[in-house]
Amino acid sequence: LFFFFVGPCLAQISIEDDGQQQIQRSDFPQNFFFGTSTSSYQIEGAYLEDGGGLSNWDVYSHIPGNIVNNENGDVADDHYHRYLEDIEIMHSLGVNAYRFSISWARVLPRGRFGNVNPKGILFYNKIIDNLVLRGIEPFVTIYHHELPQILEDSYGGWLSHLIQEDFAHLATICFNEFGDRVKYWMTLNEPNHVAEFAYLTGQLAPGRCSPPFGNCSVGNSDIEPLVAMHNMLMAHAKAVDIYRKHFQKKQGGFIGIVANIFMYEPLRDEEVDRQAVKRALAFNAAWMLDPLVYGDYPAEMRDCLGSELPWFSDRDTELIKGSMDFIGLNHYSALYVKDCIYSACSVGDDHPIRGFLSKLPERDGVPIGEPTGMKRFFVVPSALEKVIDYLKHRYNNIPIFVTENGYSSKQHENEQVEDLLEDVNRVEYHKAYLAALASAIRDGADVRGYFIWSLLDNFEWTLGYTVRFGLFHVDRFTNSLQRTPKLSAKQKSEIKEGSFI
Ligand code: NOJ
Repeated sequence: LFFFFVGPCLAQISIEDDGQQQIQRSDFPQNFFFGTSTSSYQIEGAYLEDGGGLSNWDVYSHIPGNIVNNENGDVADDHYHRYLEDIEIMHSLGVNAYRFSISWARVLPRGRFGNVNPKGILFYNKIIDNLVLRGIEPFVTIYHHELPQILEDSYGGWLSHLIQEDFAHLATICFNEFGDRVKYWMTLNEPNHVAEFAYLTGQLAPGRCSPPFGNCSVGNSDIEPLVAMHNMLMAHAKAVDIYRKHFQKKQGGFIGIVANIFMYEPLRDEEVDRQAVKRALAFNAAWMLDPLVYGDYPAEMRDCLGSELPWFSDRDTELIKGSMDFIGLNHYSALYVKDCIYSACSVGDDHPIRGFLSKLPERDGVPIGEPTGMKRFFVVPSALEKVIDYLKHRYNNIPIFVTENGYSSKQHENEQVEDLLEDVNRVEYHKAYLAALASAIRDGADVRGYFIWSLLDNFEWTLGYTVRFGLFHVDRFTNSLQRTPKLSAKQKSEIKEGSFI
């Protein structure tokens, strides 16, 4: 038997032994956060409503061919109008935390060039107030992949150092308006993912890429991902500096950042592939996290990229070093890694910005784990433990929140709602990953929370609505957008002291 979130808020997860794993509530610290995670563009909808501005995702998703079935987030889950119901269903799960993000264009439609949109502030105030009312701790991501289009048009978004001040401005408004109730801040979601997929392969807005990726006949500069990352990191550092100087003491909160981290296994039992695994982790995780702890990019990257990798000035180093209270970890899967310095690889894999390595889903035709609805996501629970171990050792056991982990199902022909609601695979997935998490905590990792991606089926970026991660089904068959709990949401029960959870 698997019991999921158990209301209200005392003991939130319950998994009973099915002969394989036994997890108890006591495997997690007393004040542990169990929650669900979403982001503004993926659920809100309300395109340009109530004074909200145009975002880069509005523009990108409206270009035919960019998104599967030419879908977009104009309506998404209509959370903007249904937030009260969504907080209710969240409450019914018994969670004690919720991670969501702020739409930059809703709050500052014209960035620094214009005024704050009071209706945008009001919307997030209503969400926060209603969460607090139900004993649900708000975890707020200030930027989750979308920014006002005017910042792209006027100076190229993350490619310009000007955005650092713009982001700091947005963050200051958020601390001012919401910081009396929000105690957990994440500046940016997955800069490592954005840098690679928005500026190298072109699969995220603003869709820039350099050959041989995407439709990049005319290439952008190869170093754009490096520049974008540098500006994101400095934007983070400036926001944190402001928070620490003017808000943190008074408001008593914490501030971190969110990284998307895969685990990697050597493809062959060879030293070159083991080295490639180290590079893969450095080019993926340490690229964004080393500067925040040590004040500079990892040596593994500097060795490969030399002076192409930007430098931090002394002033920047001072600002960025030590600029996070916790790591937000988004983790979904593991991949095999093959060296491309000494071995032949396919075109693109040997790209310097990717660390001269191939990331492969299978070895001798066998996938690294059970496949899911996403091409590169496999079920490999032990990988979560290994990633946490890597972070624990590299960053001196800094506190970690697992800010995303979830199972995707892919849309297929002739599907029936009843089948979608019987999401046994998702149930099994979370059960296995929670067991791995409990084991990491037993080994001394300072993990303080676990958030399931996602509360609702939602807009999965380039894949539109064809991939679903929700604990709640959102009806797009009739377009009612009605929320229905899946098995993963429904499996809950009374929890008694000492019982398995
Ligand atoms: C990471 C991103 O933060 C989120 O926006 C996305 O939907 C999930 N992963 C699943 O791909």
